[in-house]
Amino acid sequence: PVLVVDFGAQYAQLIARRVREASVYSEIVPHTITATEVLAKNPRGIVLSGGPSSVYAEGAPAFDAEIFELGVPVLGICYGFQVMATALGGTVAHTGAREYGSTPVVVSNTDNVLLADQPDSQTVWMSHGDSVATAPEGFTVLASSTSTPVAAFANDAKRLYGVQWHPEVKHSENGQHVLENFLHRAAGIDPDWNSGNVIAEQVAKIRAQVGTGKVICGLSGGVDSAVAAALVHKAIGDQLVCVFVDHGLLREDERRQVEEDYVKATGIRLVTVDVREQFLKALEGVSDPETKRKIIGREFIRTFEQAQAELILEAKETDGDPIAFLVQGTLYPDVVESGGGSGTANIKSHHNVGGLPDDLKFELVEPLRTLFKDEVRAIGAELGLPAEIVQRQPFPGPGLGIRIVGSINQERLDLLRKADAIVRFELTAAGLDREIWQCPVVLLADVRSVGVQGDGRTYGHPIVLRPVSSEDAMTADWTRLPYDLLAKISNRITNEVDGVNRVVLDVTSKPPGTIEWE
Ligand code: XMP
Repeated sequence: PVLVVDFGAQYAQLIARRVREASVYSEIVPHTITATEVLAKNPRGIVLSGGPSSVYAEGAPAFDAEIFELGVPVLGICYGFQVMATALGGTVAHTGAREYGSTPVVVSNTDNVLLADQPDSQTVWMSHGDSVATAPEGFTVLASSTSTPVAAFANDAKRLYGVQWHPEVKHSENGQHVLENFLHRAAGIDPDWNSGNVIAEQVAKIRAQVGTGKVICGLSGGVDSAVAAALVHKAIGDQLVCVFVDHGLLREDERRQVEEDYVKATGIRLVTVDVREQFLKALEGVSDPETKRKIIGREFIRTFEQAQAELILEAKETDGDPIAFLVQGTLYPDVVESGGGSGTANIKSHHNVGGLPDDLKFELVEPLRTLFKDEVRAIGAELGLPAEIVQRQPFPGPGLGIRIVGSINQERLDLLRKADAIVRFELTAAGLDREIWQCPVVLLADVRSVGVQGDGRTYGHPIVLRPVSSEDAMTADWTRLPYDLLAKISNRITNEVDGVNRVVLDVTSKPPGTIEWE
């Protein structure tokens, strides 16, 4: 792999993704990694990320300087660039000239591989207070900006390189090209990492892990569990059984999509448990958001356990083998965020199947553990899953249950489902599915307002549209949808959904608002 050393900024994941976009496999490691540990991973290259600190600050993230002596090509970025400079005898200074945002740089050396075939002047994304004042001995300065004399350097003999700017950020012109120059030309790594190879590798791994064992997988209708199941199915066929819980809080057409389109595309054996009544009953009269979430979580576990127990029993009766494995759609960001822990389930993966109790004795199969969301989508497409599933926007596990502000009943669910279907249809028709992250549609069931429709007075409920743009759902901005589209959606909802006489738009970013209303 290429190791991406994390110095504590949010950039490490982004760098890891960009390296993979260059068709090179990457892994994130902490900055505390030692030279011995690096060698054990046999990396083809190392990228040092940026970080929030100054190299001279007390408690600044340390780095084992011996790593620079291993002969492994290294690219330092921002803080990582300064770490490299100081470790090898250069100097870093508090120049007082803080550069932040788009900054012009002049490339003085395009003969060197790092900035080869690049324009002499370009705009890049900077974010730093300290600057490298002098490059270490043996290094050539490649670029500068008005306040940063040493904005990039290289030592070809040692295959050590660095840039002050952030090539991983889209605002840096030619940023991806800098990374690719480092990976493919300076480090000589072939671009051979693609979804086809990942599938082959994972299939072999799953077979080795599972053998002739039986495997169960909870399908939520979301992308991650759908792709994980498809991958496992490719590896071991009918040793896999999937369970889909219809809790009645799904959106229009979701169950059919899973039962028909998904099964048709994969040939997976699927068991649907219909527990709509059980959920409605459990939620009756409850309007507090946290209580709702707890009830939904509890009922979900109960249902899943029941289905498991039945399948295990059935499996034992037919061929004696118990079900020993459980598939989870854990993604790489979950792994990184939970400290890179290996083996056992973390909080996020619990959550992926609706919160599994700790005493379920299964061995986990997690074929997406090393992948980012966009890679999971690419693999899903390669496995032949329908676009409606692979390109699905995020949808919360508790479903429409947390999009009705007020208590939940059948009538309200039907109403919201109808409004939601209209919104999704119109957004898709306008070609905006890829542009927005998701668009929750919320029913304010406890609010009524006066309206006039036909000749009569109405006293109906408002529907809230919550279109958001986001990279990772941690922060979000409200999406500026075209007025004409909003008008069309509003018209259709008020005309077609009985009981709704008003449509309002949520124009709050996150923070302070969360994406969902509950
Ligand atoms: P919030 O509302 O916290 O949502 O800004 C962030 C993202 O998470 C989704 N979400 C959930 N997903 N189970 C899930 O699987 C949940 O309980 C849950 N709550 C929120 C939300 O749709 C958004 O994408």
